[in-house]
Amino acid sequence: MTAAIEIQGLHKSFGDLEVLRGVDFTVAQGEVVCVIGPSGSGKSTLLRCANLLEEPTSGRVVVAGADLTDPDLDIDRVRRRIGMVFQQFNLFPHLNVLENLTIAQRRVLGRDRAEAERTARANLERVGLADKEAGYPAQLSGGQQQRVAIARALSMGPELMLFDEPTSALDPELVGDVLGVMRSLADEGMTMLVVTHEMGFAREVADRVVFMDDGVVVEEGSPDEVLGNPRHERTRSFLARVVNPGDAPPADAQS
Ligand SMILES: Nc1ncnc2c1ncn2[C@@H]1O[C@H](COP(=O)(O)OP(=O)(O)OP(=O)(O)O)[C@@H](O)[C@H]1O
Ligand SMILES: [Mg+2]
Repeated sequence: MTAAIEIQGLHKSFGDLEVLRGVDFTVAQGEVVCVIGPSGSGKSTLLRCANLLEEPTSGRVVVAGADLTDPDLDIDRVRRRIGMVFQQFNLFPHLNVLENLTIAQRRVLGRDRAEAERTARANLERVGLADKEAGYPAQLSGGQQQRVAIARALSMGPELMLFDEPTSALDPELVGDVLGVMRSLADEGMTMLVVTHEMGFAREVADRVVFMDDGVVVEEGSPDEVLGNPRHERTRSFLARVVNPGDAPPADAQS
Protein backbone atom coordinates (compact mmCIF):
# COMPACT_ATOMS: atom_id res chain seq x y z
CA MET A 1 0.00 0.00 0.00
CA THR A 2 1.42 3.39 -0.99
CA ALA A 3 0.33 6.20 1.29
CA ALA A 4 -0.98 9.36 -0.37
CA ILE A 5 -1.09 11.06 3.02
CA GLU A 6 0.80 9.99 6.10
CA ILE A 7 0.34 11.94 9.30
CA GLN A 8 2.21 11.06 12.47
CA GLY A 9 2.05 12.75 15.87
CA LEU A 10 0.63 15.94 14.42
CA HIS A 11 0.24 18.79 16.90
CA LYS A 12 -1.02 22.25 16.05
CA SER A 13 -1.47 25.12 18.46
CA PHE A 14 -2.72 28.65 17.94
CA GLY A 15 -1.13 30.54 20.84
CA ASP A 16 -2.21 28.72 23.99
CA LEU A 17 -4.94 26.78 22.20
CA GLU A 18 -3.86 23.27 21.25
CA VAL A 19 -6.18 22.36 18.40
CA LEU A 20 -4.54 19.12 17.20
CA ARG A 21 -3.20 17.02 20.04
CA GLY A 22 -1.35 14.16 18.40
CA VAL A 23 -3.11 13.00 15.25
CA ASP A 24 -1.98 9.86 13.40
CA PHE A 25 -3.50 8.51 10.26
CA THR A 26 -2.85 7.61 6.68
CA VAL A 27 -4.76 7.76 3.44
CA ALA A 28 -3.73 5.13 0.91
CA GLN A 29 -3.50 5.78 -2.81
CA GLY A 30 -7.00 5.53 -4.27
CA GLU A 31 -8.66 5.53 -0.88
CA VAL A 32 -11.63 7.71 0.12
CA VAL A 33 -11.50 8.77 3.76
CA CYS A 34 -14.26 10.82 5.37
CA VAL A 35 -13.50 12.82 8.51
CA ILE A 36 -16.43 13.56 10.80
CA GLY A 37 -16.63 15.24 14.18
CA PRO A 38 -18.12 18.14 16.11
CA SER A 39 -17.51 21.79 15.32
CA GLY A 40 -14.15 22.94 16.63
CA SER A 41 -12.68 19.43 16.84
CA GLY A 42 -9.86 20.37 14.43
CA LYS A 43 -11.06 18.87 11.12
CA SER A 44 -10.33 21.93 8.99
CA THR A 45 -7.02 22.50 10.75
CA LEU A 46 -6.03 18.93 9.94
CA LEU A 47 -6.86 19.43 6.27
CA ARG A 48 -5.03 22.74 6.21
CA CYS A 49 -1.94 21.09 7.70
CA ALA A 50 -2.11 18.48 4.91
CA ASN A 51 -1.78 21.30 2.39
CA LEU A 52 0.59 23.52 4.40
CA LEU A 53 -1.98 26.27 4.65
CA GLU A 54 -1.12 25.86 8.33
CA GLU A 55 2.31 24.98 9.59
CA PRO A 56 2.29 22.04 12.00
CA THR A 57 3.61 22.82 15.48
CA SER A 58 5.16 19.34 15.54
CA GLY A 59 4.78 15.97 13.89
CA ARG A 60 5.27 14.55 10.44
CA VAL A 61 3.05 15.17 7.43
CA VAL A 62 3.96 13.36 4.20
CA VAL A 63 1.73 14.13 1.23
CA ALA A 64 2.19 12.78 -2.31
CA GLY A 65 5.63 11.52 -1.31
CA ALA A 66 6.85 14.88 -0.01
CA ASP A 67 7.65 15.56 3.65
CA LEU A 68 5.85 18.86 4.26
CA THR A 69 7.91 19.52 7.37
CA ASP A 70 11.18 19.44 5.42
CA PRO A 71 12.48 23.04 5.52
CA ASP A 72 14.01 22.68 2.02
CA LEU A 73 10.71 21.62 0.47
CA ASP A 74 9.40 23.52 -2.53
CA ILE A 75 5.86 23.74 -1.18
CA ASP A 76 4.39 25.21 -4.36
CA ARG A 77 5.46 22.13 -6.29
CA VAL A 78 3.70 19.88 -3.78
CA ARG A 79 0.58 22.04 -3.58
CA ARG A 80 0.10 21.66 -7.32
CA ARG A 81 -0.43 17.96 -6.79
CA ILE A 82 -3.14 18.53 -4.18
CA GLY A 83 -6.62 19.72 -5.15
CA MET A 84 -8.48 21.57 -2.44
CA VAL A 85 -12.20 22.34 -2.35
CA PHE A 86 -13.62 24.51 0.42
CA GLN A 87 -17.07 25.29 1.74
CA GLN A 88 -16.85 28.69 0.05
CA PHE A 89 -16.22 28.22 -3.62
CA ASN A 90 -13.67 31.05 -3.94
CA LEU A 91 -14.29 31.62 -7.65
CA PHE A 92 -13.13 34.89 -9.21
CA PRO A 93 -16.38 36.87 -9.66
CA HIS A 94 -15.02 38.97 -12.56
CA LEU A 95 -13.93 35.94 -14.61
CA ASN A 96 -16.26 33.63 -16.47
CA VAL A 97 -16.33 29.92 -15.77
CA LEU A 98 -13.81 29.00 -18.45
CA GLU A 99 -11.41 31.72 -17.31
CA ASN A 100 -11.77 30.59 -13.68
CA LEU A 101 -10.60 27.16 -14.83
CA THR A 102 -7.73 28.30 -17.05
CA ILE A 103 -6.07 31.06 -15.03
CA ALA A 104 -4.12 28.85 -12.61
CA GLN A 105 -3.30 26.31 -15.32
CA ARG A 106 -1.69 29.08 -17.33
CA ARG A 107 -0.02 31.00 -14.50
CA VAL A 108 1.06 28.12 -12.28
CA LEU A 109 1.53 25.26 -14.74
CA GLY A 110 2.53 27.41 -17.72
CA ARG A 111 0.04 25.79 -20.09
CA ASP A 112 -0.84 27.70 -23.24
CA ARG A 113 -4.37 28.94 -23.75
CA ALA A 114 -5.43 26.13 -26.08
CA GLU A 115 -4.27 23.38 -23.77
CA ALA A 116 -5.71 25.07 -20.68
CA GLU A 117 -9.08 25.47 -22.40
CA ARG A 118 -9.08 21.88 -23.59
CA THR A 119 -8.41 20.65 -20.07
CA ALA A 120 -11.00 23.04 -18.61
CA ARG A 121 -13.71 21.88 -21.02
CA ALA A 122 -13.00 18.23 -20.32
CA ASN A 123 -13.39 18.87 -16.61
CA LEU A 124 -16.54 20.97 -17.00
CA GLU A 125 -17.94 18.00 -18.88
CA ARG A 126 -16.94 15.77 -15.99
CA VAL A 127 -18.96 17.83 -13.50
CA GLY A 128 -21.93 18.20 -15.87
CA LEU A 129 -21.47 21.90 -16.66
CA ALA A 130 -20.20 21.92 -20.22
CA ASP A 131 -22.91 24.42 -21.17
CA LYS A 132 -21.88 26.99 -18.52
CA GLU A 133 -18.38 27.93 -19.65
CA ALA A 134 -19.33 31.47 -20.66
CA GLY A 135 -21.36 32.16 -17.50
CA TYR A 136 -20.15 34.17 -14.52
CA PRO A 137 -20.17 32.79 -10.97
CA ALA A 138 -23.02 35.09 -9.89
CA GLN A 139 -25.22 33.57 -12.61
CA LEU A 140 -24.78 30.06 -11.22
CA SER A 141 -26.45 28.30 -8.31
CA GLY A 142 -24.33 27.45 -5.29
CA GLY A 143 -24.23 23.82 -6.34
CA GLN A 144 -23.08 24.77 -9.83
CA GLN A 145 -20.44 27.10 -8.40
CA GLN A 146 -19.12 24.31 -6.22
CA ARG A 147 -18.98 21.96 -9.22
CA VAL A 148 -17.01 24.65 -11.08
CA ALA A 149 -14.65 24.82 -8.10
CA ILE A 150 -14.20 21.04 -8.29
CA ALA A 151 -13.57 21.23 -12.05
CA ARG A 152 -11.03 23.99 -11.44
CA ALA A 153 -9.17 21.80 -8.93
CA LEU A 154 -9.29 18.83 -11.32
CA SER A 155 -7.92 20.96 -14.16
CA MET A 156 -4.61 21.14 -12.30
CA GLY A 157 -4.30 17.35 -12.55
CA PRO A 158 -4.08 16.65 -8.81
CA GLU A 159 -2.92 13.33 -7.38
CA LEU A 160 -5.30 13.70 -4.49
CA MET A 161 -8.20 15.90 -3.47
CA LEU A 162 -9.01 17.46 -0.11
CA PHE A 163 -12.59 18.56 0.52
CA ASP A 164 -13.64 20.67 3.51
CA GLU A 165 -17.41 20.48 3.93
CA PRO A 166 -18.02 21.07 0.23
CA THR A 167 -21.80 20.91 0.56
CA SER A 168 -22.50 22.62 3.86
CA ALA A 169 -23.09 26.09 2.36
CA LEU A 170 -25.60 24.71 -0.15
CA ASP A 171 -29.37 24.60 -0.15
CA PRO A 172 -30.44 21.01 0.52
CA GLU A 173 -31.74 20.44 -3.00
CA LEU A 174 -28.34 21.34 -4.49
CA VAL A 175 -26.29 18.99 -2.31
CA GLY A 176 -27.01 15.85 -4.33
CA ASP A 177 -25.40 17.07 -7.57
CA VAL A 178 -22.15 17.95 -5.81
CA LEU A 179 -22.07 14.64 -3.95
CA GLY A 180 -22.77 12.90 -7.25
CA VAL A 181 -19.68 14.48 -8.80
CA MET A 182 -17.63 13.46 -5.78
CA ARG A 183 -18.97 9.93 -5.97
CA SER A 184 -17.94 9.63 -9.63
CA LEU A 185 -14.46 10.92 -8.76
CA ALA A 186 -14.22 8.23 -6.11
CA ASP A 187 -15.38 5.63 -8.65
CA GLU A 188 -12.60 6.77 -11.00
CA GLY A 189 -10.08 6.00 -8.27
CA MET A 190 -9.24 9.50 -7.07
CA THR A 191 -7.65 9.64 -3.62
CA MET A 192 -9.93 11.79 -1.48
CA LEU A 193 -9.90 13.13 2.07
CA VAL A 194 -13.32 14.60 2.77
CA VAL A 195 -14.51 16.49 5.84
CA THR A 196 -18.27 16.16 5.76
CA HIS A 197 -21.49 16.05 7.72
CA GLU A 198 -23.15 14.00 4.97
CA MET A 199 -23.40 10.67 6.73
CA GLY A 200 -25.17 9.02 3.79
CA PHE A 201 -22.26 9.94 1.52
CA ALA A 202 -19.72 8.73 4.07
CA ARG A 203 -21.54 5.45 4.52
CA GLU A 204 -21.83 4.79 0.80
CA VAL A 205 -18.61 6.19 -0.66
CA ALA A 206 -15.95 6.16 2.07
CA ASP A 207 -13.52 3.30 2.39
CA ARG A 208 -12.79 4.54 5.89
CA VAL A 209 -14.40 6.98 8.33
CA VAL A 210 -12.36 8.89 10.90
CA PHE A 211 -14.14 10.41 13.91
CA MET A 212 -12.30 13.35 15.49
CA ASP A 213 -13.13 15.06 18.74
CA ASP A 214 -11.17 17.62 20.68
CA GLY A 215 -8.06 17.45 18.50
CA VAL A 216 -7.59 13.68 18.41
CA VAL A 217 -8.79 10.76 16.32
CA VAL A 218 -11.23 9.00 18.63
CA GLU A 219 -11.91 6.10 16.31
CA GLU A 220 -11.60 5.06 12.70
CA GLY A 221 -12.71 2.11 10.66
CA SER A 222 -15.07 1.07 7.91
CA PRO A 223 -18.29 3.09 7.58
CA ASP A 224 -20.20 0.12 8.96
CA GLU A 225 -18.00 0.02 12.04
CA VAL A 226 -17.80 3.73 12.82
CA LEU A 227 -21.27 4.82 11.72
CA GLY A 228 -23.15 1.58 12.29
CA ASN A 229 -21.53 0.21 15.40
CA PRO A 230 -19.30 2.84 17.04
CA ARG A 231 -17.07 1.64 19.85
CA HIS A 232 -16.82 4.94 21.71
CA GLU A 233 -19.49 6.83 23.59
CA ARG A 234 -18.24 10.13 22.12
CA THR A 235 -18.85 8.80 18.62
CA ARG A 236 -22.29 7.50 19.57
CA SER A 237 -23.42 10.79 21.08
CA PHE A 238 -22.05 12.77 18.10
CA LEU A 239 -23.90 10.54 15.64
CA ALA A 240 -27.11 10.82 17.66
CA ARG A 241 -26.86 14.61 17.48
CA VAL A 242 -26.12 14.62 13.74
CA VAL A 243 -28.97 12.29 12.92
CA ASN A 244 -31.42 14.06 15.25
CA PRO A 245 -30.07 17.62 15.52
CA GLY A 246 -32.97 18.77 17.69
CA ASP A 247 -32.29 16.21 20.41
CA ALA A 248 -30.34 17.16 23.49
CA PRO A 249 -27.24 15.00 24.00
CA PRO A 250 -27.85 12.05 26.32
CA ALA A 251 -27.33 12.80 30.01
CA ASP A 252 -24.31 10.48 30.21
CA ALA A 253 -22.56 11.96 27.14
CA GLN A 254 -18.96 12.94 27.78
CA SER A 255 -17.95 16.13 26.06
N1 LIG B 1 -6.07 30.66 12.55
C1 LIG B 1 -6.58 30.36 13.76
N2 LIG B 1 -6.27 31.08 14.85
C2 LIG B 1 -6.74 30.77 16.07
N3 LIG B 1 -7.57 29.74 16.31
C3 LIG B 1 -7.93 28.98 15.28
C4 LIG B 1 -7.47 29.23 13.94
N4 LIG B 1 -8.01 28.31 13.11
C5 LIG B 1 -8.76 27.50 13.90
N5 LIG B 1 -8.73 27.90 15.20
C6 LIG B 1 -9.41 27.25 16.31
O1 LIG B 1 -9.10 25.88 16.26
C7 LIG B 1 -10.20 25.09 16.69
C8 LIG B 1 -10.48 24.05 15.62
O2 LIG B 1 -10.91 24.71 14.44
P1 LIG B 1 -11.25 23.94 13.11
O3 LIG B 1 -11.67 24.97 12.14
O4 LIG B 1 -10.13 23.05 12.73
O5 LIG B 1 -12.49 23.05 13.58
P2 LIG B 1 -13.50 22.19 12.69
O6 LIG B 1 -13.50 20.82 13.28
O7 LIG B 1 -13.16 22.33 11.27
O8 LIG B 1 -14.91 22.86 13.02
P3 LIG B 1 -16.19 23.13 12.05
O9 LIG B 1 -16.93 21.82 12.00
O10 LIG B 1 -16.96 24.19 12.77
O11 LIG B 1 -15.67 23.57 10.72
C9 LIG B 1 -11.34 26.05 16.94
O12 LIG B 1 -11.40 26.28 18.32
C10 LIG B 1 -10.92 27.29 16.20
O13 LIG B 1 -11.45 28.44 16.80
MG1 LIG C 1 -14.13 23.15 9.62
